[in-house]
Amino acid sequence: MGIRFDRERRLFTIETANTAYQMAADSHDVLQHLYYGRRTGSDMSYMHRRCDRGFSGNIDGAEENRSYSLDTICQEYACAGTGDYRVPALVVRNDDGSTCADLRYRGYEIREGKYAIPGMPAVYDNGGEAQTLIISLEDPVSGLAVQLFYGVFPDMDIITRAAQIRSGSRPVTLERAMSACVELPFGQWDLIHFHGRHCMERQFERTPLPHAIQTVASRRGMTSHHHNPFVILCDRHADEDHGDCLGMILVYSGDHRTEIERDQTDSVRAVMGIHDGTFSWELQPGETFFTPEVILTFSSKGLTRLSHNCHRIIRNNICRGRYKLARRPVLINNWEATYFDFNEDKIMGLARQAADLGIEMFVLDDGWFGARNNDRAGLGDWKVNLEKLPSGLVGLAEQIHALGMRFGLWIEPEMVNEDSDLYRAHPDWAFTVPGRGPVRSRHQLVLDLSREDVRDYLYGAISAILRENAIDYIKWDFNRAMEDVFSRALPAGRQGEVRHRYVLGLYRLLDRLTSEFTQVLFEGCAGGGGRFDPAMLYYSPQIWCSDDTDAIERLKIQYGTSFGYPVSAVGSHVSASPNHQTGRSTPLHTRAVVAMSGTFGYELDLNSLSEEEKEEIRGQIAVYHKYADLIRSGDYYRLTETDLDYTAWQFVAPDLSESLVNLVVTHPLANGPFIHVKLKGLDPRAVYEDEASGDRFTGAALMYGGYTFPVMTGDYPALQIHLVRVLFE
Ligand code: GLA
Repeated sequence: MGIRFDRERRLFTIETANTAYQMAADSHDVLQHLYYGRRTGSDMSYMHRRCDRGFSGNIDGAEENRSYSLDTICQEYACAGTGDYRVPALVVRNDDGSTCADLRYRGYEIREGKYAIPGMPAVYDNGGEAQTLIISLEDPVSGLAVQLFYGVFPDMDIITRAAQIRSGSRPVTLERAMSACVELPFGQWDLIHFHGRHCMERQFERTPLPHAIQTVASRRGMTSHHHNPFVILCDRHADEDHGDCLGMILVYSGDHRTEIERDQTDSVRAVMGIHDGTFSWELQPGETFFTPEVILTFSSKGLTRLSHNCHRIIRNNICRGRYKLARRPVLINNWEATYFDFNEDKIMGLARQAADLGIEMFVLDDGWFGARNNDRAGLGDWKVNLEKLPSGLVGLAEQIHALGMRFGLWIEPEMVNEDSDLYRAHPDWAFTVPGRGPVRSRHQLVLDLSREDVRDYLYGAISAILRENAIDYIKWDFNRAMEDVFSRALPAGRQGEVRHRYVLGLYRLLDRLTSEFTQVLFEGCAGGGGRFDPAMLYYSPQIWCSDDTDAIERLKIQYGTSFGYPVSAVGSHVSASPNHQTGRSTPLHTRAVVAMSGTFGYELDLNSLSEEEKEEIRGQIAVYHKYADLIRSGDYYRLTETDLDYTAWQFVAPDLSESLVNLVVTHPLANGPFIHVKLKGLDPRAVYEDEASGDRFTGAALMYGGYTFPVMTGDYPALQIHLVRVLFE
């Protein structure tokens, strides 16, 4: 396993436990991609036959061999302007105005450990887990140098990719600089991607690849609710347990684009990286640019295995800090309980009730600062509103801690209302285009985080809050898409850099705060899951999954999210019934079963509940404590899709000693068929006992025969079955 180089054939082979990745420098010094798939132990170059194809031209020096065309050859980092007409990874504008780059192989280096990317989050090595391969390419004419980075985690079947680009002796402008280019020359592929909208993020969609270019992208200045930067290419016949699947996740939180092209010969190329439609970057001679990272994983055993690979790498090698693997406190958030309408008495009433029920942390959401009585004012003024909260944050935190609970706070640092002291003092700090009225969204504008003075102000304001108050948790929100992205700190020719500079500025600010306040649990948020990506998980090990808290809608949202992201990252709460977003009524039990497949908390007015409901909540919290480790660190199995009359999923402990099966009936049927599912991931030879009924089954019976649920009627009933291994056969 690991990285090998065959000097004679100039062949690079990366082997992980179950996969292999191969490339070779050919006789023209072009770095060809040969293979990514199940491990074969062979040189896979034999697969790549060539023939002369009309209208696919030949590079200079290859004119005598008309079958040699970059238009038909698989490449590791394809460039525009070389006779390759497919989607490129790199597009440059040279200082003479020409737009070609022609990269040729120059050398390589293998290092122990995992490379880091300056100023950007990336997968890291916990010690002895990874190796790095760096391949150097160069344009012989312009001197443009590209280093391709490969981070290899052999035990996890993970390969990461990023590129570093350095200009030669002349300035150059990057018009597109993708993180990775992946080639699948053979096969029939489907694209799975995760689209959505505010309140309905990461919806699973699977479509066969047409002979066209498919784009999954965001130009909203954020990861977006609309397209997650995560795609899967899978064999047309692949399912949860069978078939080839390739996953690509971008570790980035700004504008992104993935293009997947199925070409004239059915060869598929996918490029993923920063969205070039809103990007350009000027490099003066000798300057470098680093792309964000892409995480690649391949499974020849279906989508479940692919998801497990993603979960593991994100949980163990992206998330950081003291909460990375730890159980998170059960919280109460006051947003859906009070919205902006609260004062100290109301907050403390809710907190006392929460403490009495066994809730461990109180989170004070939007509305505690400045003139923030609605969403028209106050963003930017991070000073407590003493009219609402006369004891201030210090006093409030004290009272909450005295109840035995931790104290958390909502902030939205990247934004400003025009009706705020901050905007009145520094109107130039917000993104607006000179001479034009801005596009407003929720009455707020985005602060220009590409600027150091803006970041310094925010660092000062937030670090003061964290230093002066006993705060255990921060919910970091971001509640609009960007527009009018224009920085007064950059000249006209460099405005194409602002969006990426913004993202780098955000990472710098987050890095500073999270490394200084290590005791604080950070939760990401962007109107729910609008910035749900691995880069944000590098700073906050959990992200509020969606502003839609309806348990039945959440089944779909959490299902889609589960393909790429671990349950430990999914912020999920029990809210009121009828639900505030959909008006749907669901049982309290069902709401808890769904919220438990996440970081678990409550977000409703506890004082309006009956004594019976309060007692039920005490029970739910006890159940959550019992299963929390299994849920957070167990393997997650999707047992059904979400378009049936029910949804089922399962957690299995890493040592297979226990399992939690979850079922929600989304459409109860009169005199319907029994609900029957085949469980997964158990030890086939072990005997498991259903803790509630005492019934015993072998793992083999539950997996190969399946489990038949009792008849369940009523509105959206749910069931959890806890199976405990009692015997080996
Ligand atoms: C966003 C968040 C919500 C809440 C509100 C407050 O929409 O996703 O959870 O914090 O902002 O304004």
